[in-house]
Amino acid sequence: MPQDLTIIVLAAGGGTRMKSKTMKVLHPIAGRSMVGHVLHAAAALDPTRIVAVVGNQREQVAPHIEALVPGVVLAVQESQEGTGHAVRIAWEALPVEARTGTVIVAYGDTPLLEGGSLVAFAAAHEASAHAVTVLTGVVARPDGYGRIVRGADGGVEAIVEQKDATPEQAAIAEINSGILAFDADFLDAALPRLSNQNANGEYYLTDTVGLARTDGRTVGAFELVDVMQTEGANDRVQLAALAAEMNRRIVERWMREGVTVVDPTSTWIDADVVLAADVTLLPGVQLLGTTVVAEDAVIGPDSTLKDVEVGAGATVVRTHGELAVIGAGATVGPFSYLRPGTELGTDGKIGAFVETKNAQIGVGAKVPHLSYVGDATIGEGANIGAGTIFANFDGVAKHRTVIGAHAKTASNNTFVAPVTVGDGAATGAGSTIRNDVPPGALAVTSGPQRHFKNWAQKNRAGTAQARAAEAAEAAGTDD
Ligand code: UD1
Ligand code: CA
Repeated sequence: MPQDLTIIVLAAGGGTRMKSKTMKVLHPIAGRSMVGHVLHAAAALDPTRIVAVVGNQREQVAPHIEALVPGVVLAVQESQEGTGHAVRIAWEALPVEARTGTVIVAYGDTPLLEGGSLVAFAAAHEASAHAVTVLTGVVARPDGYGRIVRGADGGVEAIVEQKDATPEQAAIAEINSGILAFDADFLDAALPRLSNQNANGEYYLTDTVGLARTDGRTVGAFELVDVMQTEGANDRVQLAALAAEMNRRIVERWMREGVTVVDPTSTWIDADVVLAADVTLLPGVQLLGTTVVAEDAVIGPDSTLKDVEVGAGATVVRTHGELAVIGAGATVGPFSYLRPGTELGTDGKIGAFVETKNAQIGVGAKVPHLSYVGDATIGEGANIGAGTIFANFDGVAKHRTVIGAHAKTASNNTFVAPVTVGDGAATGAGSTIRNDVPPGALAVTSGPQRHFKNWAQKNRAGTAQARAAEAAEAAGTDD
């Protein structure tokens, strides 16, 4: 690995083909921005310094890059006059004493770029005496790329841009990926010599190759067989294609690590997700953000988990969850909605049509059916009856409900927070619990049931309801 290494990431371009208020390099793929992927790959080189060139929408781009790379050197390119101009601005943003060693230039919109490829490329450049090494690729359709013109000795003579190419040059399938490695002293001398006398009227960084040859220096090519790593996304169609390819690679990597993925094409896994061996992912699963899943857990079908921690052996069926923790052996779903702050204990249960938020549900505790649990602590082994509402909001502020260990609350309860149900307590069906329930007590709030005899016959005379009541009365079964 080079001792003194500078990485320059170009991210000043307009990206107008995205037709977006979001700057191109900030568009996400697999949970990271495109430039975030490039910076992640760059980190594998353990660079001495990183310079990011920003321009268009830099009020969005600069803070994003600074958050990802504390200490990054930001260089502002006011007008985009070409890749050579962009690198000159990056170079001038560095103090003179930092303009040393090896310099690698990359683009901010190549999300598939892998750290290992940059490491191999940098090593190849370092091992040579080349002034410049070009990361190249052989593509079926070289349109739009700079073509690699090689000499008889195999060395690179020039990079010729599409618009400046002769028909013979245009037929060359080996292209400039855009990623270049430079000897800093050469780059320092070459940048002021670039001109914009070409078909685009731009300062081409690629003209440094010709300058190196003029100076009697050699230029190397390092071919990356996996050319998709250097592909950029210029519009939403390419963005989706690269996202699908990245997902394919991520899913394949996890399968090779021992994860069962029943339907790879309907399974989406973000770059920062971590899965254990023997996890099973059923069709239609999205694991996003920093989700972590422990061994033997089964997720899906049709579940989206973002920043969720799933314990070993848990099952999560048709669930949407965010910033939640699901304990080992717990069961969730189908049709559960876990909102931020949900923590389900070991062997706990969150069942069908249950919404939880900011709720700690204890070991073995169960909320099986049709409930809203907001701002609550539910003790170990407690069972919450079907159709329970934790009324946490009084219209002004949120309050907590505490349910004790092994409490059994009945169906269709409302807990009006703040309220506490003691350990081992119970409630009656349909209760509205406004006052604290002592441990072990049974709380019943609904009034005694009253009967208004023959109400239907009097008030609904002539209806099917009344006739049914009359028939029951005649048969002697009304009482
Ligand atoms: C460039 C290369 C070409 C290569 C291709 C690979 C040159 C002259 N040409 O062409 O050989 O095959 O990339 O994709 O280098 N940028 C800035 N400031 C500028 C100009 C560009 O930051 O003033 C950034 C853009 O945001 C983009 C990258 O540099 O990320 C490449 O610029 P672009 O104009 O797309 O270069 P190409 O014409 O594609
Ligand atoms: Ca381009």
